[in-house]
Amino acid sequence: MANASCMFTPTLPQFNKLKSSAIVPSPHPIFKRVVSCPSAVEDAADNLSPSEFKPNRLVGKGCKLIGCGSAVPKFEVSNDDLSKIVDTNDEWISVRTGIRKRRLITGKERMTGLAVEAAQKALEMAQVDPDDVDLLLLCTSTPDDLFGSAPQIQAALGCKGNPLAFDITAACSGFVLGLVSASCYIRGGGFKNALVVGADALSRYVDWTDRGTCILFGDAAGAVLVQACESEEDGLFGFDLHSDGEGYRHLHTGIKENEALGTNGSVIGFPPKGGSYSFIQMNGKEVFRFACRVVPQSIQTALENAGMPGSSIDWLLLHQANQRILDAVATRLEIPADRVISNLANYGNTSAASIPLALDEAVRSGKVKPGQTIATSGFGAGLTWGSAIIRWN
Ligand code: UT7
Repeated sequence: MANASCMFTPTLPQFNKLKSSAIVPSPHPIFKRVVSCPSAVEDAADNLSPSEFKPNRLVGKGCKLIGCGSAVPKFEVSNDDLSKIVDTNDEWISVRTGIRKRRLITGKERMTGLAVEAAQKALEMAQVDPDDVDLLLLCTSTPDDLFGSAPQIQAALGCKGNPLAFDITAACSGFVLGLVSASCYIRGGGFKNALVVGADALSRYVDWTDRGTCILFGDAAGAVLVQACESEEDGLFGFDLHSDGEGYRHLHTGIKENEALGTNGSVIGFPPKGGSYSFIQMNGKEVFRFACRVVPQSIQTALENAGMPGSSIDWLLLHQANQRILDAVATRLEIPADRVISNLANYGNTSAASIPLALDEAVRSGKVKPGQTIATSGFGAGLTWGSAIIRWN
């Protein structure tokens, strides 16, 4: 993997030189990372003999997955429950999707509450203190705050070590994109402990009168702690990421168009009306075809990037959208059914949470063991999709 940036931690002579330049490291006691550009390194190196100068590039630094956690709401809705509100039945849903029940947030439950619980469990398993987290990526399409919810999670966890926390929006591909992003921050940015949280509450944007979509989704959160390590321990071997905005029409939850008149009746539509989002709109058949086409290709490419054969994979862990998609991808990749991780029967499609939720269950049940290799892939709205070949712990 390419590392375009570099980390620069100045020695004393370098620091003295830097003090008079524009990139003086902050004297603030909680400033931990010093990331600079090659020209600054060259500038600081002016006073050094060639033997003293080391470029400090983080080539070959690894990152490993050492903790996971998950959380789901208490309220459970079965297929039979859904058959009371839309024209459907348990047999149709089970046969066409594999889903039997799902959990939904109710009352005062919030997506961030689930995310915090999942992150706490991941930190506990990893035995990492919240103060030592320096990056928190919240992968979600349903933040509790339009401006992003990651900093709220940082505060609730009590991370006081000056972490960077922000949201990543990439629907059901969010977690894989977050995982790869965390690895890039670790390899190229000098970060040490990255919490990658996938959490979504799509139930808020489901049209509960539309049987084509309301049967699919559930709410949940999952988290993984990714830690910097030596290259020999590296746990992210290869990846492959994509997006295709042309496919947006097949799956979206767009902003509602403002009506023609502004609030004061003005025809030019000023001042604007408050914004809100429509329900999830999906062409299920097209999304199904898209997933079955791109996911096997993407995993193959990630394997090639990792320099690994398909036979080296212990587990296939896909975004939990539909059991028929999981089966089709496994068949295409010639991965036996008993190596496919699936828990969608109990939770449905939980968007960005589905991969870390399924990983957490598989790790805690002893199914996935330390040292095993997992091919993981997320796909969904955007359209976006991406795969990563990872090693657990
Ligand atoms: O996170 C990624 C996002 N989404 C996905 O991955 C979804 C991918 N797509 C799918 O999982 C499947 O396309 C669905 C499960 C959404 C639908 O399954 P399908 O086999 O593609 O069914 P369909 O839409 O072709 O519908 C077949 C029939 C239709 O009736 P007619 O026209 O044949 O009479 C539908 O009206 O089934 C009907 N139908 C239902 N019947 C009972 C659609 N939804 C339901 C339902 N219960 N819930």
